[in-house]
Amino acid sequence: MEILRHIVVLIHLVGFAVLFGSWVVEAVGGKHRITRLMHWGLAIAGIAGLILAAPWGGADLDYAKIGVKLVILLIIGALLGIGSGRQRKTGSVPPAIFWSIGVLTLANAAIAVLWT
Ligand code: HEM
Repeated sequence: MEILRHIVVLIHLVGFAVLFGSWVVEAVGGKHRITRLMHWGLAIAGIAGLILAAPWGGADLDYAKIGVKLVILLIIGALLGIGSGRQRKTGSVPPAIFWSIGVLTLANAAIAVLWT
């Protein structure tokens, strides 16, 4: 059971890497656009996160921390949706939306690692 949980943690980290990595590519030298990979990364991190939030494998869960992460994930999802819509209509993403996606993604990773 423990090994299975570790595999889900690994998938969760792959989702984070895909979301944050694709955002960094756009932030550094990119066109500050929202890409399909960001949506995929969020979906992978979100699904794996929800599986990890279930009480299994004897893990000791902090539901306040998980709740905050879930709210932030939903906000990132809303920003990706709104930003994609604007991108389709106007050809660019408002800077506040683009930068918030990266900052909130990093904030969720920081909460995961630093909230004890
Ligand atoms: C963009 C969204 C997210 C990011 C960037 C993110 C990032 C991370 C990272 C980096 C870790 C590893 C921490 C460590 O090993 O110490 C982690 C662990 C975890 N995350 Fe997330 N996360 C996100 C969303 C979520 C959501 C939505 C949930 C639950 C609803 C969740 C639940 C968990 C749990 C339970 C763990 C602990 C796994 C364990 O060590 O047993 N995460 N997250």
